[in-house]
Amino acid sequence: MIRSRFSPLALLFLVVPTVLLLCVSATPTWAKPKLIEQPIAFSHKLHVSQNGIACQYCHLYARRSFSAGVPPVSTCLGCHGSNKMKIVAPDSAEVNKMRDYWAQGDPIPWVKIHDLPDFVRFPHKKHINAESSRFVDEAGQGCNLDKAPRSLECRLSQFRTGGDQRCQACHGAVPEMEVVYKVDDNFGSMGWCLECHLQVKGAVERKRTGSTLAGWFHAKENDAKREAAAQLVSDKGYHNSNMSDCVTCHY
Ligand code: HEC
Ligand code: HEC
Ligand code: HEC
Ligand code: HEC
Ligand code: HEC
Repeated sequence: MIRSRFSPLALLFLVVPTVLLLCVSATPTWAKPKLIEQPIAFSHKLHVSQNGIACQYCHLYARRSFSAGVPPVSTCLGCHGSNKMKIVAPDSAEVNKMRDYWAQGDPIPWVKIHDLPDFVRFPHKKHINAESSRFVDEAGQGCNLDKAPRSLECRLSQFRTGGDQRCQACHGAVPEMEVVYKVDDNFGSMGWCLECHLQVKGAVERKRTGSTLAGWFHAKENDAKREAAAQLVSDKGYHNSNMSDCVTCHY
Protein backbone atom coordinates (compact mmCIF):
# COMPACT_ATOMS: atom_id res chain seq x y z
CA MET A 1 0.00 0.00 0.00
CA ILE A 2 1.34 3.41 -0.97
CA ARG A 3 0.96 5.98 1.74
CA SER A 4 0.57 9.62 0.80
CA ARG A 5 3.54 11.70 1.88
CA PHE A 6 1.18 14.17 3.60
CA SER A 7 -1.33 13.04 6.14
CA PRO A 8 -4.74 14.74 5.75
CA LEU A 9 -4.11 16.53 9.04
CA ALA A 10 -0.79 17.98 7.85
CA LEU A 11 -2.50 19.13 4.68
CA LEU A 12 -5.11 20.90 6.78
CA PHE A 13 -2.36 22.74 8.64
CA LEU A 14 -0.99 23.88 5.31
CA VAL A 15 -4.25 24.80 3.63
CA VAL A 16 -6.00 26.67 6.46
CA PRO A 17 -3.29 29.31 7.07
CA THR A 18 -2.86 29.81 3.31
CA VAL A 19 -6.56 30.46 2.84
CA LEU A 20 -6.62 32.79 5.85
CA LEU A 21 -3.62 34.69 4.48
CA LEU A 22 -5.31 35.06 1.10
CA CYS A 23 -8.47 36.33 2.77
CA VAL A 24 -6.59 38.96 4.75
CA SER A 25 -4.61 40.22 1.76
CA ALA A 26 -7.74 40.31 -0.40
CA THR A 27 -9.79 42.42 2.05
CA PRO A 28 -12.08 44.50 -0.19
CA THR A 29 -11.39 48.22 -0.39
CA TRP A 30 -14.69 49.15 1.26
CA ALA A 31 -13.37 47.74 4.50
CA LYS A 32 -10.66 50.43 4.54
CA PRO A 33 -12.14 53.81 3.73
CA LYS A 34 -9.79 56.26 2.05
CA LEU A 35 -8.89 58.75 4.73
CA ILE A 36 -8.40 62.36 3.73
CA GLU A 37 -5.42 64.18 5.21
CA GLN A 38 -6.42 67.29 7.13
CA PRO A 39 -4.19 70.30 7.97
CA ILE A 40 -4.44 69.43 11.69
CA ALA A 41 -4.80 65.92 13.11
CA PHE A 42 -8.19 66.65 14.70
CA SER A 43 -9.83 63.58 16.23
CA HIS A 44 -13.59 63.31 16.74
CA LYS A 45 -13.03 60.22 18.88
CA LEU A 46 -10.82 62.15 21.30
CA HIS A 47 -13.16 65.14 21.54
CA VAL A 48 -16.56 63.42 21.44
CA SER A 49 -16.09 59.98 23.02
CA GLN A 50 -13.15 60.62 25.32
CA ASN A 51 -13.96 64.18 26.38
CA GLY A 52 -17.75 64.19 26.04
CA ILE A 53 -18.13 67.25 23.82
CA ALA A 54 -21.52 67.39 22.05
CA CYS A 55 -21.68 67.54 18.24
CA GLN A 56 -23.64 70.75 18.28
CA TYR A 57 -21.21 72.50 20.63
CA CYS A 58 -18.94 72.77 17.59
CA HIS A 59 -21.42 72.35 14.73
CA LEU A 60 -23.83 74.88 16.16
CA TYR A 61 -25.41 75.92 12.87
CA ALA A 62 -26.78 72.46 12.09
CA ARG A 63 -30.17 73.17 13.59
CA ARG A 64 -30.35 76.78 12.43
CA SER A 65 -29.23 76.81 8.80
CA PHE A 66 -28.70 74.83 5.62
CA SER A 67 -25.08 74.12 6.44
CA ALA A 68 -23.94 72.37 9.62
CA GLY A 69 -20.66 74.23 9.19
CA VAL A 70 -17.20 73.48 10.48
CA PRO A 71 -16.36 75.48 13.63
CA PRO A 72 -14.27 78.66 13.29
CA VAL A 73 -10.81 78.80 14.93
CA SER A 74 -12.29 80.84 17.77
CA THR A 75 -14.22 77.74 18.91
CA CYS A 76 -10.97 75.79 19.30
CA LEU A 77 -9.42 78.76 21.05
CA GLY A 78 -12.14 78.73 23.71
CA CYS A 79 -10.67 75.52 25.12
CA HIS A 80 -7.08 75.43 23.89
CA GLY A 81 -6.17 79.13 24.19
CA SER A 82 -3.92 81.21 21.95
CA ASN A 83 -0.13 81.20 21.70
CA LYS A 84 -0.08 83.80 24.48
CA MET A 85 -2.22 81.79 26.84
CA LYS A 86 -2.11 78.09 26.22
CA ILE A 87 -4.75 76.16 28.14
CA VAL A 88 -5.74 72.59 27.14
CA ALA A 89 -2.84 70.60 25.57
CA PRO A 90 -0.30 73.47 25.89
CA ASP A 91 2.59 71.48 24.42
CA SER A 92 0.82 69.79 21.54
CA ALA A 93 2.42 70.44 18.15
CA GLU A 94 -0.93 69.81 16.43
CA VAL A 95 -2.79 72.28 18.64
CA ASN A 96 0.03 74.81 18.10
CA LYS A 97 -0.74 74.70 14.37
CA MET A 98 -4.25 75.89 15.26
CA ARG A 99 -2.82 78.67 17.48
CA ASP A 100 -0.63 79.80 14.57
CA TYR A 101 -3.62 80.01 12.22
CA TRP A 102 -5.32 82.17 14.85
CA ALA A 103 -2.26 84.42 15.27
CA GLN A 104 -2.18 84.97 11.50
CA GLY A 105 -5.93 85.53 11.33
CA ASP A 106 -6.34 82.68 8.85
CA PRO A 107 -9.10 80.06 8.84
CA ILE A 108 -7.99 76.43 9.06
CA PRO A 109 -8.13 75.03 5.50
CA TRP A 110 -10.12 71.87 6.37
CA VAL A 111 -10.78 69.60 3.40
CA LYS A 112 -14.52 69.08 2.82
CA ILE A 113 -15.58 65.44 2.93
CA HIS A 114 -19.34 65.45 2.40
CA ASP A 115 -20.20 67.61 -0.58
CA LEU A 116 -23.33 67.65 -2.73
CA PRO A 117 -23.45 69.17 -6.21
CA ASP A 118 -24.72 72.77 -6.29
CA PHE A 119 -28.00 71.84 -7.98
CA VAL A 120 -29.15 69.96 -4.85
CA ARG A 121 -30.74 71.63 -1.85
CA PHE A 122 -29.98 70.01 1.49
CA PRO A 123 -31.18 71.89 4.58
CA HIS A 124 -29.62 70.54 7.80
CA LYS A 125 -32.09 72.51 9.91
CA LYS A 126 -35.12 70.75 8.38
CA HIS A 127 -33.55 67.42 9.22
CA ILE A 128 -32.36 68.28 12.71
CA ASN A 129 -35.69 69.83 13.68
CA ALA A 130 -37.99 67.29 11.99
CA GLU A 131 -40.31 65.50 14.40
CA SER A 132 -39.72 61.77 14.71
CA SER A 133 -43.47 61.22 14.31
CA ARG A 134 -43.03 62.11 10.65
CA PHE A 135 -41.98 58.54 9.93
CA VAL A 136 -44.32 55.71 9.05
CA ASP A 137 -44.89 53.62 12.16
CA GLU A 138 -42.77 50.56 11.45
CA ALA A 139 -39.79 52.50 10.11
CA GLY A 140 -36.61 51.57 11.98
CA GLN A 141 -38.11 48.64 13.86
CA GLY A 142 -36.05 45.88 12.26
CA CYS A 143 -32.72 47.48 13.17
CA ASN A 144 -29.90 45.17 14.23
CA LEU A 145 -26.96 47.46 15.04
CA ASP A 146 -24.46 44.60 15.40
CA LYS A 147 -25.29 42.91 12.13
CA ALA A 148 -26.06 45.78 9.77
CA PRO A 149 -25.38 49.19 11.33
CA ARG A 150 -25.84 51.00 8.01
CA SER A 151 -29.05 49.29 6.97
CA LEU A 152 -31.98 51.58 6.19
CA GLU A 153 -33.76 50.31 9.31
CA CYS A 154 -30.87 51.29 11.59
CA ARG A 155 -30.48 54.67 9.96
CA LEU A 156 -34.18 55.32 10.44
CA SER A 157 -34.02 54.25 14.07
CA GLN A 158 -31.06 56.59 14.71
CA PHE A 159 -32.92 59.39 13.00
CA ARG A 160 -35.99 58.77 15.16
CA THR A 161 -33.95 58.86 18.37
CA GLY A 162 -33.15 62.51 17.60
CA GLY A 163 -30.46 64.68 19.23
CA ASP A 164 -26.85 64.05 18.27
CA GLN A 165 -27.80 60.43 17.58
CA ARG A 166 -29.62 61.74 14.53
CA CYS A 167 -26.34 62.89 12.94
CA GLN A 168 -25.29 59.23 12.86
CA ALA A 169 -28.22 58.29 10.62
CA CYS A 170 -26.37 60.05 7.82
CA HIS A 171 -22.75 60.38 9.01
CA GLY A 172 -22.23 57.09 10.85
CA ALA A 173 -20.29 56.49 14.06
CA VAL A 174 -18.46 59.85 14.05
CA PRO A 175 -17.83 59.63 17.83
CA GLU A 176 -15.52 56.66 17.10
CA MET A 177 -13.67 58.23 14.16
CA GLU A 178 -10.11 59.55 14.35
CA VAL A 179 -10.61 60.92 10.85
CA VAL A 180 -14.08 61.58 9.41
CA TYR A 181 -15.04 59.66 6.28
CA LYS A 182 -18.20 58.95 4.29
CA VAL A 183 -19.71 55.77 5.69
CA ASP A 184 -22.15 55.05 2.87
CA ASP A 185 -20.74 54.44 -0.60
CA ASN A 186 -23.83 56.00 -2.12
CA PHE A 187 -23.85 58.96 0.30
CA GLY A 188 -25.58 61.95 -1.27
CA SER A 189 -26.88 60.12 -4.32
CA MET A 190 -30.53 60.71 -5.18
CA GLY A 191 -31.41 57.15 -4.22
CA TRP A 192 -29.76 57.61 -0.82
CA CYS A 193 -31.98 60.62 -0.09
CA LEU A 194 -35.16 59.09 -1.44
CA GLU A 195 -34.75 55.77 0.36
CA CYS A 196 -35.43 57.70 3.55
CA HIS A 197 -37.84 60.30 2.18
CA LEU A 198 -40.16 57.50 1.08
CA GLN A 199 -40.62 56.58 4.76
CA VAL A 200 -41.83 60.05 5.71
CA LYS A 201 -45.51 60.79 6.11
CA GLY A 202 -47.20 63.90 4.68
CA ALA A 203 -44.58 66.54 5.36
CA VAL A 204 -45.97 69.87 4.42
CA GLU A 205 -49.31 69.54 2.69
CA ARG A 206 -49.13 70.70 -0.86
CA LYS A 207 -51.63 73.36 -1.60
CA ARG A 208 -53.41 72.99 -4.87
CA THR A 209 -54.94 76.36 -5.51
CA GLY A 210 -58.27 76.71 -7.27
CA SER A 211 -59.03 73.04 -7.61
CA THR A 212 -62.42 71.55 -6.88
CA LEU A 213 -62.58 68.39 -4.80
CA ALA A 214 -62.87 66.31 -7.95
CA GLY A 215 -59.97 68.14 -9.51
CA TRP A 216 -57.97 67.54 -6.40
CA PHE A 217 -58.57 63.79 -6.48
CA HIS A 218 -57.75 63.79 -10.16
CA ALA A 219 -54.49 65.61 -9.49
CA LYS A 220 -53.69 63.18 -6.71
CA GLU A 221 -54.31 60.24 -8.98
CA ASN A 222 -52.03 61.69 -11.64
CA ASP A 223 -49.39 62.41 -9.04
CA ALA A 224 -49.52 58.82 -7.87
CA LYS A 225 -49.09 57.55 -11.43
CA ARG A 226 -46.24 59.96 -12.13
CA GLU A 227 -44.52 59.01 -8.90
CA ALA A 228 -44.91 55.30 -9.58
CA ALA A 229 -43.50 55.79 -13.09
CA ALA A 230 -40.53 57.72 -11.70
CA GLN A 231 -39.99 54.98 -9.10
CA LEU A 232 -40.80 57.35 -6.27
CA VAL A 233 -43.02 54.85 -4.48
CA SER A 234 -41.44 52.46 -1.98
CA ASP A 235 -42.02 48.73 -2.10
CA LYS A 236 -44.46 49.21 0.80
CA GLY A 237 -46.46 51.61 -1.33
CA TYR A 238 -45.47 54.76 0.55
CA HIS A 239 -45.17 57.94 -1.35
CA ASN A 240 -45.34 61.52 -0.37
CA SER A 241 -45.46 64.16 -3.02
CA ASN A 242 -43.72 66.78 -0.94
CA MET A 243 -40.84 64.52 0.01
CA SER A 244 -40.29 63.20 -3.50
CA ASP A 245 -41.10 66.27 -5.61
CA CYS A 246 -38.18 67.24 -7.80
CA VAL A 247 -38.39 70.86 -6.59
CA THR A 248 -38.02 69.77 -2.97
CA CYS A 249 -34.35 69.02 -3.61
CA HIS A 250 -33.56 70.71 -6.92
CA TYR A 251 -33.31 74.41 -7.61
C1 HEC B 1 -14.53 70.02 19.22
C2 HEC B 1 -15.28 70.36 18.04
C3 HEC B 1 -16.08 69.29 17.33
C4 HEC B 1 -17.01 68.41 17.85
C5 HEC B 1 -17.42 68.24 19.30
C6 HEC B 1 -17.56 67.67 16.73
N1 HEC B 1 -16.96 68.09 15.57
FE1 HEC B 1 -17.39 67.42 13.71
N2 HEC B 1 -15.87 68.55 12.95
C7 HEC B 1 -15.07 69.41 13.67
C8 HEC B 1 -14.02 69.93 12.82
C9 HEC B 1 -12.91 70.89 13.23
C10 HEC B 1 -14.21 69.35 11.54
C11 HEC B 1 -13.36 69.55 10.28
C12 HEC B 1 -12.18 68.62 10.32
C13 HEC B 1 -12.54 67.19 10.09
O1 HEC B 1 -13.13 66.87 9.07
O2 HEC B 1 -12.25 66.37 10.99
C14 HEC B 1 -15.37 68.48 11.66
C15 HEC B 1 -15.91 67.73 10.63
C16 HEC B 1 -17.08 66.99 10.72
C17 HEC B 1 -17.72 66.31 9.60
C18 HEC B 1 -17.20 66.27 8.19
C19 HEC B 1 -17.41 67.59 7.48
C20 HEC B 1 -17.16 67.48 5.99
O3 HEC B 1 -16.20 68.07 5.52
O4 HEC B 1 -17.93 66.80 5.33
C21 HEC B 1 -18.84 65.71 10.08
C22 HEC B 1 -19.85 64.89 9.30
C23 HEC B 1 -18.88 65.98 11.49
N3 HEC B 1 -17.82 66.76 11.85
C24 HEC B 1 -19.86 65.50 12.33
C25 HEC B 1 -19.78 65.57 13.71
C26 HEC B 1 -20.65 64.82 14.60
C27 HEC B 1 -21.76 63.89 14.14
C28 HEC B 1 -20.26 65.12 15.87
C29 HEC B 1 -20.78 64.53 17.17
C30 HEC B 1 -20.77 63.09 17.23
C31 HEC B 1 -19.17 66.09 15.76
N4 HEC B 1 -18.91 66.31 14.45
C32 HEC B 1 -18.52 66.68 16.84
C33 HEC B 1 -15.25 69.75 14.99
C34 HEC B 1 -16.06 69.08 15.89
C1 HEC C 1 -14.80 72.06 24.55
C2 HEC C 1 -13.34 72.06 24.58
C3 HEC C 1 -12.57 71.81 23.31
C4 HEC C 1 -12.75 72.40 22.08
C5 HEC C 1 -13.82 73.39 21.65
C6 HEC C 1 -11.68 71.90 21.22
N1 HEC C 1 -10.90 71.02 21.92
FE1 HEC C 1 -9.27 70.05 21.19
N2 HEC C 1 -9.09 69.06 22.93
C7 HEC C 1 -9.87 69.24 24.05
C8 HEC C 1 -9.47 68.30 25.08
C9 HEC C 1 -10.08 68.17 26.47
C10 HEC C 1 -8.40 67.55 24.53
C11 HEC C 1 -7.61 66.42 25.21
C12 HEC C 1 -6.43 67.01 25.89
C13 HEC C 1 -5.63 65.95 26.59
O1 HEC C 1 -5.96 64.78 26.52
O2 HEC C 1 -4.62 66.34 27.20
C14 HEC C 1 -8.18 68.07 23.19
C15 HEC C 1 -7.19 67.60 22.34
C16 HEC C 1 -6.92 68.11 21.08
C17 HEC C 1 -5.86 67.68 20.21
C18 HEC C 1 -4.83 66.58 20.52
C19 HEC C 1 -3.72 67.17 21.33
C20 HEC C 1 -2.55 66.21 21.43
O3 HEC C 1 -1.56 66.45 20.76
O4 HEC C 1 -2.71 65.22 22.14
C21 HEC C 1 -5.94 68.42 19.06
C22 HEC C 1 -5.03 68.34 17.86
C23 HEC C 1 -7.05 69.32 19.22
N3 HEC C 1 -7.62 69.10 20.46
C24 HEC C 1 -7.44 70.23 18.27
C25 HEC C 1 -8.59 71.01 18.38
C26 HEC C 1 -9.09 71.87 17.32
C27 HEC C 1 -8.42 72.10 15.97
C28 HEC C 1 -10.23 72.44 17.77
C29 HEC C 1 -11.17 73.36 17.02
C30 HEC C 1 -11.78 72.84 15.83
C31 HEC C 1 -10.46 71.92 19.11
N4 HEC C 1 -9.45 71.06 19.43
C32 HEC C 1 -11.52 72.28 19.91
C33 HEC C 1 -10.89 70.15 24.20
C34 HEC C 1 -11.40 70.94 23.19
C1 HEC D 1 -30.48 63.45 6.74
C2 HEC D 1 -29.05 63.30 6.67
C3 HEC D 1 -28.16 64.15 7.54
C4 HEC D 1 -28.26 64.37 8.89
C5 HEC D 1 -29.31 63.86 9.86
C6 HEC D 1 -27.13 65.19 9.26
N1 HEC D 1 -26.38 65.48 8.14
FE1 HEC D 1 -24.66 66.54 8.05
N2 HEC D 1 -24.60 66.39 6.03
C7 HEC D 1 -25.54 65.71 5.27
C8 HEC D 1 -25.32 65.99 3.86
C9 HEC D 1 -26.15 65.46 2.70
C10 HEC D 1 -24.18 66.86 3.81
C11 HEC D 1 -23.57 67.50 2.56
C12 HEC D 1 -24.26 68.85 2.39
C13 HEC D 1 -23.83 69.64 1.19
O1 HEC D 1 -22.78 69.39 0.60
O2 HEC D 1 -24.58 70.57 0.82
C14 HEC D 1 -23.76 67.06 5.19
C15 HEC D 1 -22.67 67.85 5.57
C16 HEC D 1 -22.25 68.01 6.89
C17 HEC D 1 -21.07 68.76 7.29
C18 HEC D 1 -20.08 69.46 6.37
C19 HEC D 1 -20.34 70.95 6.36
C20 HEC D 1 -21.65 71.30 5.74
O3 HEC D 1 -22.52 71.79 6.46
O4 HEC D 1 -21.84 71.05 4.54
C21 HEC D 1 -21.01 68.71 8.66
C22 HEC D 1 -19.97 69.33 9.57
C23 HEC D 1 -22.16 67.94 9.11
N3 HEC D 1 -22.90 67.54 7.99
C24 HEC D 1 -22.46 67.70 10.43
C25 HEC D 1 -23.67 67.19 10.88
C26 HEC D 1 -24.07 67.14 12.28
C27 HEC D 1 -23.25 67.62 13.45
C28 HEC D 1 -25.31 66.57 12.31
C29 HEC D 1 -26.21 66.34 13.51
C30 HEC D 1 -26.47 67.51 14.36
C31 HEC D 1 -25.68 66.25 10.93
N4 HEC D 1 -24.67 66.66 10.11
C32 HEC D 1 -26.86 65.63 10.54
C33 HEC D 1 -26.53 64.88 5.76
C34 HEC D 1 -26.97 64.85 7.07
C1 HEC E 1 -32.61 59.45 7.22
C2 HEC E 1 -33.69 60.13 6.56
C3 HEC E 1 -33.42 61.22 5.54
C4 HEC E 1 -32.43 61.29 4.61
C5 HEC E 1 -31.31 60.30 4.34
C6 HEC E 1 -32.63 62.51 3.87
N1 HEC E 1 -33.73 63.17 4.36
FE1 HEC E 1 -34.45 64.98 3.69
N2 HEC E 1 -35.88 64.93 5.14
C7 HEC E 1 -36.08 63.92 6.06
C8 HEC E 1 -37.11 64.32 7.00
C9 HEC E 1 -37.62 63.49 8.16
C10 HEC E 1 -37.52 65.62 6.61
C11 HEC E 1 -38.51 66.55 7.31
C12 HEC E 1 -39.93 66.33 6.97
C13 HEC E 1 -40.81 67.25 7.79
O1 HEC E 1 -40.40 67.76 8.83
O2 HEC E 1 -41.92 67.49 7.37
C14 HEC E 1 -36.74 65.96 5.44
C15 HEC E 1 -36.89 67.16 4.73
C16 HEC E 1 -36.14 67.52 3.62
C17 HEC E 1 -36.33 68.76 2.89
C18 HEC E 1 -37.35 69.86 3.21
C19 HEC E 1 -38.71 69.50 2.64
C20 HEC E 1 -39.72 70.59 2.91
O3 HEC E 1 -40.88 70.27 2.81
O4 HEC E 1 -39.33 71.69 3.19
C21 HEC E 1 -35.40 68.74 1.86
C22 HEC E 1 -35.18 69.84 0.81
C23 HEC E 1 -34.66 67.50 1.97
N3 HEC E 1 -35.15 66.79 3.04
C24 HEC E 1 -33.64 67.13 1.11
C25 HEC E 1 -32.86 65.97 1.27
C26 HEC E 1 -31.75 65.62 0.40
C27 HEC E 1 -31.27 66.42 -0.79
C28 HEC E 1 -31.25 64.45 0.90
C29 HEC E 1 -30.07 63.66 0.40
C30 HEC E 1 -28.82 64.38 0.18
C31 HEC E 1 -32.04 64.07 2.06
N4 HEC E 1 -33.01 65.03 2.25
C32 HEC E 1 -31.84 62.94 2.81
C33 HEC E 1 -35.38 62.73 6.12
C34 HEC E 1 -34.25 62.41 5.38
C1 HEC F 1 -34.74 63.85 -1.79
C2 HEC F 1 -34.02 64.69 -2.68
C3 HEC F 1 -34.22 64.57 -4.18
C4 HEC F 1 -35.40 64.53 -4.87
C5 HEC F 1 -36.81 64.55 -4.31
C6 HEC F 1 -35.05 64.49 -6.29
N1 HEC F 1 -33.67 64.51 -6.42
FE1 HEC F 1 -32.65 64.47 -8.20
N2 HEC F 1 -30.87 64.38 -7.16
C7 HEC F 1 -30.76 64.43 -5.79
C8 HEC F 1 -29.36 64.33 -5.45
C9 HEC F 1 -28.78 64.33 -4.03
C10 HEC F 1 -28.64 64.26 -6.68
C11 HEC F 1 -27.12 64.20 -6.83
C12 HEC F 1 -26.71 62.81 -7.15
C13 HEC F 1 -25.24 62.64 -7.36
O1 HEC F 1 -24.47 63.60 -7.37
O2 HEC F 1 -24.86 61.47 -7.51
C14 HEC F 1 -29.63 64.28 -7.75
C15 HEC F 1 -29.33 64.20 -9.11
C16 HEC F 1 -30.28 64.34 -10.13
C17 HEC F 1 -29.97 64.33 -11.54
C18 HEC F 1 -28.63 64.06 -12.13
C19 HEC F 1 -27.93 65.27 -12.55
C20 HEC F 1 -26.55 64.90 -13.05
O3 HEC F 1 -25.91 65.77 -13.61
O4 HEC F 1 -26.10 63.78 -12.85
C21 HEC F 1 -31.14 64.50 -12.23
C22 HEC F 1 -31.33 64.58 -13.73
C23 HEC F 1 -32.19 64.60 -11.22
N3 HEC F 1 -31.63 64.50 -9.96
C24 HEC F 1 -33.54 64.78 -11.50
C25 HEC F 1 -34.57 64.67 -10.59
C26 HEC F 1 -35.98 64.62 -10.93
C27 HEC F 1 -36.54 64.69 -12.34
C28 HEC F 1 -36.67 64.51 -9.75
C29 HEC F 1 -38.18 64.39 -9.54
C30 HEC F 1 -38.77 63.20 -10.11
C31 HEC F 1 -35.67 64.51 -8.66
N4 HEC F 1 -34.41 64.60 -9.23
C32 HEC F 1 -35.99 64.45 -7.32
C33 HEC F 1 -31.78 64.55 -4.87
C34 HEC F 1 -33.13 64.54 -5.16
